[in-house]
Amino acid sequence: MDDVDRPGAPRSRDIVRAESLVTARDRRDLLGHGPLTVWFTGLSGSGKSTLALEVERRLIASGRLAHVLDGDNVRFGLNRDLGFSPADRTENIRRIGEVCRLLHDAGVIVLSAFISPFVADRAAVRALHPPGGFLEVFVDAPVEVCEERDVKGLYARARTGEIPEFSGISAPYEAPSDPDLRIDTVTGTTRECVASVIAAVLERV
Ligand code: ADX
Repeated sequence: MDDVDRPGAPRSRDIVRAESLVTARDRRDLLGHGPLTVWFTGLSGSGKSTLALEVERRLIASGRLAHVLDGDNVRFGLNRDLGFSPADRTENIRRIGEVCRLLHDAGVIVLSAFISPFVADRAAVRALHPPGGFLEVFVDAPVEVCEERDVKGLYARARTGEIPEFSGISAPYEAPSDPDLRIDTVTGTTRECVASVIAAVLERV
């Protein structure tokens, strides 16, 4: 199908894709591994960033090109114009998904840590990737536990209403019903959780 005929096509019809002279195989040969987008989804405080950062450290230490994309950080730059309405969250994830796809084409193991509360938005990001190129990791911790941890003090402020539309409190979180990997950060230690993710990554890159 012609790009301009599908939904989400460029606004202008006068755009033609440039074809790379480098293949995915060339990049794989250069790096010694293939690309993968590891998509951590879960509530604020569930442990997404902690896991992604530690997995990144371990992969880099073992000679693999990994890179973390983190919710709070991306909202300082690329997505600084977005808030937390449902439409803004969808746009947040759409843009991140496109960044993941670009980094995937570049051969990178992307570790993407965003609440990404909507099933449809996560499915759309998966659809941007080739089959097997996207691993959904549900970082599973109940809201009561995340609220108890309250690492950033945001849950307390969400409870008083100071922060509106807070995921798990006053905004929805749609948990994945069939994630590629489920990590229970309540019963598992960080070391165990990291090991599970690394094992799943190494099976696929
Ligand atoms: S998402 O829902 O659009 O995927 P994202 O992962 O980018 O969210 O950002 C979540 C982070 O923003 C949280 O870890 C938290 O620190 C902060 N935050 C600020 N306001 C909210 C809110 N209303 N809901 C959830 N997180 C919020």
